[in-house]
Amino acid sequence: MSYTKNVLITGGAGFIGSHLARLMVNKYPTYRIINLDKLTYAGNLKNLEDLENAPNYVFVKADICDQKAISEVFTQYEISDVIHLAAESHVDRSIEGPMEFVMTNVVGTVNLLQQAKDNWKGDDHVFQHVSTDEVYGSLGAEGLFEEVTAYDPRSPYSSSKASSDHFVRAFHHTYGLPIKISNCSNNYGSHQFPEKLIPLMINNILQKKPLPIYGKGDNIRDWLWVEDHASAIETIFHGGRLGESYNVGGLNEWTNLDLVLYLCRLMDKKLNRSEGESEELITYVTDRAGHDMRYAIDATKLETELNWKPSLKFEEGLEKTVDWYLANEDWIQEVTSGSYRDYYEKMYQDR
Ligand code: NAD
Ligand code: DAU
Repeated sequence: MSYTKNVLITGGAGFIGSHLARLMVNKYPTYRIINLDKLTYAGNLKNLEDLENAPNYVFVKADICDQKAISEVFTQYEISDVIHLAAESHVDRSIEGPMEFVMTNVVGTVNLLQQAKDNWKGDDHVFQHVSTDEVYGSLGAEGLFEEVTAYDPRSPYSSSKASSDHFVRAFHHTYGLPIKISNCSNNYGSHQFPEKLIPLMINNILQKKPLPIYGKGDNIRDWLWVEDHASAIETIFHGGRLGESYNVGGLNEWTNLDLVLYLCRLMDKKLNRSEGESEELITYVTDRAGHDMRYAIDATKLETELNWKPSLKFEEGLEKTVDWYLANEDWIQEVTSGSYRDYYEKMYQDR
């Protein structure tokens, strides 16, 4: 079969990438989706089991920093478009060791940009870069991040993502590469690695382990259901203007403490535990170094230009998420065995 597009998704074995790959494979049978992932600790082929036999789906294990491998993929699959998600994504890990973040997030991105530039002629292509609201820095009590907000990254993770955004724009301005960028707020949903706040708390509540709240728990994050992020990426891929950035978010701010308290109550009900039982597990631990106070996204541009809207209320999405983790304890078991234990000990033991 000849496909209308050969879309390279990078990082498609991770949390957001696997949701996006599923959406694209099922919704666009005339596109061939080439999912390229290094399968680091955060990537898991189990996230993609239902796609394995789809005729328009191919998985390639490779590192985005590997010039030869990426060049071969562009040639072999005649890549027409890229949706780039592969990254080191966890802020705490970036504080422990920034270099891996520079390699994948900066060098890997530039490698992909080079391959796209060398292989593509004209504008009938899209290089879409999936980025974060953390590039804008930290907000006080008021205001929202807009697309025109000046970049002010403050962690090694957000600095590496900001750098990659700058390179993507530089390839547009300097070489005319047809690019698009999206900057999204915190995602939650199924298949998220339990180093991130929500799945870590779900896992610890299940196991009756301490619930580590950094600092006073008054930092604020703006949460979006992962499938709504995937639909936003797809919407921008098809309708977004070349050279433009789009913020993605659902105006859903929670302090970390309120969110964890809500999760405790929800899970106490689901697990038939007595009211207040899980709350007692809350433990205040040393704050994250350089902890950004508040993120909040203004997604008006995406909503008005492309008619995108989040589909789920947070309370519904959180319940679906908890239900997924409760029904998939084997998945949690698998990803938290081995190196996760070492990570957890190193990160939380003396905190
Ligand atoms: P994740 O950590 O769950 O997954 C990252 C994936 O990238 C994994 O499958 C991993 O194996 C792969 N990968 C890592 N290094 C690689 C390399 N060198 N070569 C090839 N593959 C590699 O991350 P996520 O939460 O799904 O985030 C995906 C993207 O979305 C990232 O670019 C992240 O910055 C961005 N983002 C995430 C959020 C969020 O809340 N999680 C919000 C906004 C933007
Ligand atoms: O805003 C988008 C970003 O959201 C993405 O770009 C990142 O890839 C993603 O990891 C996420 O970054 P955060 O640092 O906001 O997410 P994390 O889940 O690590 O933490 C959320 C909040 O919870 C943050 O204020 C720190 C706090 N926290 C986190 C953990 C893991 C705790 O209090 N305790 C914890 O154990």
